[in-house]
Amino acid sequence: MLLTNANIATVAGPAETGLIENGIIACRDAQILWAGPAAALPDTLHDDDRHDLQGRLVTPGLIDCHTHVVHGGNRAREFEMRLEGARYEEIARAGGGIVSTVTQTRAASEEALVAAALPRVDALIAEGVTTLEIKSGYGLELDTELRMLRAARRIAEIRPIVVRTSFLGAHATPSGMDADSYLDEICLPALEAAHAEGLVDAVDGFCEGIAFTPAQIRRVFDHARALGLPVKLHAEQLSHTGGTRLAAEFGALSADHLEYADDADAAVMATSGTVAVILPGAYYTLHETQAPPIEAFRRHGVPMALATDCNPGSSPLTSLLLTMNMGATLFRMTPAECLAGVTRNAALALGLHDRGTIATGARADLAIWDVEHPRELSYRIGFNPLWKRVYGGEL
Ligand code: NIG
Ligand code: FE
Repeated sequence: MLLTNANIATVAGPAETGLIENGIIACRDAQILWAGPAAALPDTLHDDDRHDLQGRLVTPGLIDCHTHVVHGGNRAREFEMRLEGARYEEIARAGGGIVSTVTQTRAASEEALVAAALPRVDALIAEGVTTLEIKSGYGLELDTELRMLRAARRIAEIRPIVVRTSFLGAHATPSGMDADSYLDEICLPALEAAHAEGLVDAVDGFCEGIAFTPAQIRRVFDHARALGLPVKLHAEQLSHTGGTRLAAEFGALSADHLEYADDADAAVMATSGTVAVILPGAYYTLHETQAPPIEAFRRHGVPMALATDCNPGSSPLTSLLLTMNMGATLFRMTPAECLAGVTRNAALALGLHDRGTIATGARADLAIWDVEHPRELSYRIGFNPLWKRVYGGEL
């Protein structure tokens, strides 16, 4: 298949958007065979089946690299409580927050979890998302953690989307238990069981005053390493606890949130190749005022990704385009950085090297937009200019 008359934002190469005007993309099976200016099309490809894109913009398929789309219930009441002045940590310490979603998730069957997640997944697909990360972490007991991961994998069987799963048993401590016994007796055995069932692509944790200390997360990461699984971490979201340095020490794929990270954290992430996953939806929802150190990440050359963090508490957000707009307006990321953040760098945050750019050999996952320039993808608020998606080479 040849996609002709396209403006291509390859997001590959030195220029951040790697724009090619009047370009052609050749796909065969599920792979990109060739992409470049029309005038340079190799002779061997001239006869392939042509689709004229009439000057539309083509980007890599979008990647949402941090979500909790599988969960039971909602927390709209906590949204109201925060508007009345309650703080996220207060609500969590009073038994609300993550633990209240745990109650609702435990009560849901696998089918119910899938059914509840699908409208959120469909909203992401409608905006050109082709790869989606989904975390567990609202079970905090063996059965429900496994059920969440199975539900996540099931989504990829009934929708045209690649799902990558992260085990987030170290998300919160269930009520009535202390954190260390929870880790030893429930979380780590659940990780082993989930891995034995082939349900885990990466291991995540929440390092925070209301969650786990760096010493506790270290035990989870040691376990992940023993199983040969890569790690990532919710770090420095509400306070500075040193999670980022720990993540870098373990060569983590990503450290996520990072509002309270500092210049030294950025420097160490640069040496470990850890991606900074920026989550403006949580910043916005929690009325946070401390912005992540974008300029430090830029200066140290830390790749920045952007994700929805779609979850019922801190970020009930199902739009990656709005996330890009927030990254630009709230954090002064450039529109080019925002696009790289939901494509190339989001792929890196998942340890995926076969997607996120338009290049020979990459997966043929593309988003085709009714816009003239990639900056328009970050510019509009609440408008979806997606024309069509190409998933695994299928238009
Ligand atoms: O990414 N920070 C921890 N975990 C989620 C919030 C989960 C929740 O409040 O339900 C997050 O923001
Ligand atoms: Fe999260």
